[in-house]
This record gives sequence, structure tokens and C-alpha cells, in this order.
Amino acid sequence: MITEAQVREIVNALEDPFLHKKLAETGGVEEVSIKEEKNHVSVKVAIAQTGTPEQLQLQMRIVNTLKEAGVETVGIRFKELPEETIAKFRGADAQGKDEDLLSPNSETTFLAIASGKGGVGKSTVSVNLAVALARLGKKVGLVDADIYGFSVPDMMGITTRPVVRGEKIFPVDRFGVKVISMGFFVDDNAPVIWRGPMLGKMLNNFFKEVEWGDLDYLLLDLPPGTGDVALDVHTILPHCKEVIVSTPHPTAAFVAARAGAMALQTDHEIVGVIENMAYFESKTTGEKEYIFGRGGGDKLADELRTDLLGRLPLEQPEWNEEDFAPSVYAEDHRLGVIYQDIAEKLDKKLS
Ligand SMILES: Nc1ncnc2c1ncn2[C@@H]1O[C@H](COP(=O)(O)OP(=O)(O)OP(=O)(O)O)[C@@H](O)[C@H]1O
Ligand SMILES: [Mg+2]
Repeated sequence: MITEAQVREIVNALEDPFLHKKLAETGGVEEVSIKEEKNHVSVKVAIAQTGTPEQLQLQMRIVNTLKEAGVETVGIRFKELPEETIAKFRGADAQGKDEDLLSPNSETTFLAIASGKGGVGKSTVSVNLAVALARLGKKVGLVDADIYGFSVPDMMGITTRPVVRGEKIFPVDRFGVKVISMGFFVDDNAPVIWRGPMLGKMLNNFFKEVEWGDLDYLLLDLPPGTGDVALDVHTILPHCKEVIVSTPHPTAAFVAARAGAMALQTDHEIVGVIENMAYFESKTTGEKEYIFGRGGGDKLADELRTDLLGRLPLEQPEWNEEDFAPSVYAEDHRLGVIYQDIAEKLDKKLS
């Protein structure tokens, strides 16, 4: 009769189908038991992903090799390896490149869109900047970090939900942007009434539990002001860069400067200022009216010693009933063109 040591030797020599490492190396053989009287062996095996065709193949290999060694019947149970083990081997697989988005080696540029106060267009800018970067061929993710006041799913016209597989959440793809939002996890537009510590946890989950894949940019649409979430982002993402959105009124710029001051205090580099609702341009006469004042963006950029990346006039996107995304400007829309220009400037500055 076969011994436990022999069974382990046989199974240990097989590979984890996802990590491409011998089970001996991943510690994948968890239990072996033998029923001599029935010539039956049962094994418990941990692999990177269960419930897959690859698992079925491995199962057949195990059964066949054990039967070749003289075993009559084989029982196998599978479970998933701990996240740390998977991360460790995945990291080694990518030639030292750590896949964790939050690791210091991560090649993803984090870009938070902030403002001093609400309603100036952070979410609109986040969504359209993300889409514009994707139009440049970049791999882009977007986190709706406004946990209470999430708006990104509606603005982009997202009607699907993320796929959850095992412990991982797969973001929704929209216009080439991978999106995650609290809105995906709340029923029927119910208000979210969580408090401080839970908020931080939720944000952390957005980075750790979400399968982002390779990203060039991960944009964060921040809630207004300098509150909890903004602080959490500063703690969780020490390398995060920031774009400050402001309206053109000089006092609005003054308020926005506070968000900027906070970024500087926490060593977040400010990569530029975007002036939104800068003017209204008449379609008939082409005349520009500076409804909300003038000069705020320049003043703010000066104060923060950064560039004014662009000025966006007041105008709604064209609505398309077939593929409804109420806040996304088409590439050839006047604002779409400006967004493309801002995205190019940013990309040049950051790469
Ligand atoms: N350039 C623009 N032209 C016309 N409307 C705009 C423009 N930018 C933003 N808006 C509109 O202004 C409103 C506020 O914009 P948005 O939600 O993006 O601001 P926000 O800063 O994210 O707000 P909050 O602080 O509540 O998160 C929205 O209704 C949006 O459609
Ligand atoms: Mg917003």
C-alpha cells in the first residue's frame, strides 16, 4: 500500500495551474489521508483559483498519477490559497514586480481630483479626464472616493455591477475605464451613513480587494473639502498626485487653495489646476461671458506654484439615448477636445 510520504511526493511534483510553481513550493498539499482497507487516498489541495477548468485538469492529473502508483480510488478537495501566498508568488512571477497597487514599486500613477468646496465639477472632471486618458491608449482606473455622495456610476451611465469572484471584485469597464464606486454596493440609492473608521476601511478595500490589473493611472474622485476621506487618501496613498478643480471666481480659488495647502502638507504633489465653468460661449455670436468671474484659476496656480492645465466652459454633453452617459463629452465635442488636451499635458508631465 502507498504511504502518505509517497502520496505527498507525487502530488507535490505537480504544478499550481495559475502560479506555475510546484505544489511543494506553494505548500499546496494541505492534507493526505489513506484508507488502507479500501485502497483509497484523499487529498486536500490549495491552489490560486478554484472552480475553474484548470482546477479540473489538475484534478485529473492527480487522480491519474495516483492510480498509476497503484491507488484504487482517489478523493480530492480543493480550496484557495491564502491571499498572501498568491501575492507572494504572483509578485515573483512578474520578475520582481509587485502586483500590489499600493506597494512602493507600483508603476501606477495615482491622481486625486480635489477641490476646496463642493459642486465645482470634481466628478465631471474625474470622469472625463479618465475617459480622455483612456482615449490616449492609457490603462485607466477610476475610484469614486465620494463614499457618501457617489455620483460616478450615474454620470457615466453605468447600469451593470462589478463581478465578484471569490474574494476579488472586478471593476466595471466603461469607455475603457475601470470603475469602482460605493454606488455599486448600495441598494436603491439609499444614503450611506457610515462613519470615519469604516470609511477608511472601505477605501482600503477599493485598492486591496479590487482586481485592477495593470494600470497606468488610477484617478480618485474625492468628496468636497478637506474632510475624512481626503485625509484617508493622504494616508493610504502617500505618492498620490493631485489636480485641483476650481471655478474662476477669485474667492473660489481662495477656498481651493486650502485643499492645495493640505496636499502640500501631506507631501502630495500638485500637478495642476483646472478651471471649470470658466465662461459661457454663445453658440450664435461666439461671444464669451465670464459668468463666475475671471482669473481665479491663474491665481490659484500661481499660489500653488503649479500650472493651469486648462479652462473648461459651461456646456452640457450631447445626450445619446442609445448609450446614455449624461456627463461624458464625446471626443469631438468642444469640451471633449479640451479634456483631450488636458490629458495630453498631464500625461507628458507625469511620464
Ligand atoms: N463645465 C460644465 N458645464 C456645465 N455643467 C457643468 C460643468 N461642470 C460641471 N457641471 C455640472 O455641475 C454640477 C456639479 O458638478 P460635479 O458633480 O462634477 O461637481 P463636484 O465638485 O463633483 O460636486 P460634489 O462636491 O457634490 O461632489 C453637475 O450637475 C454637473 O453636470
Ligand atoms: Mg462629486
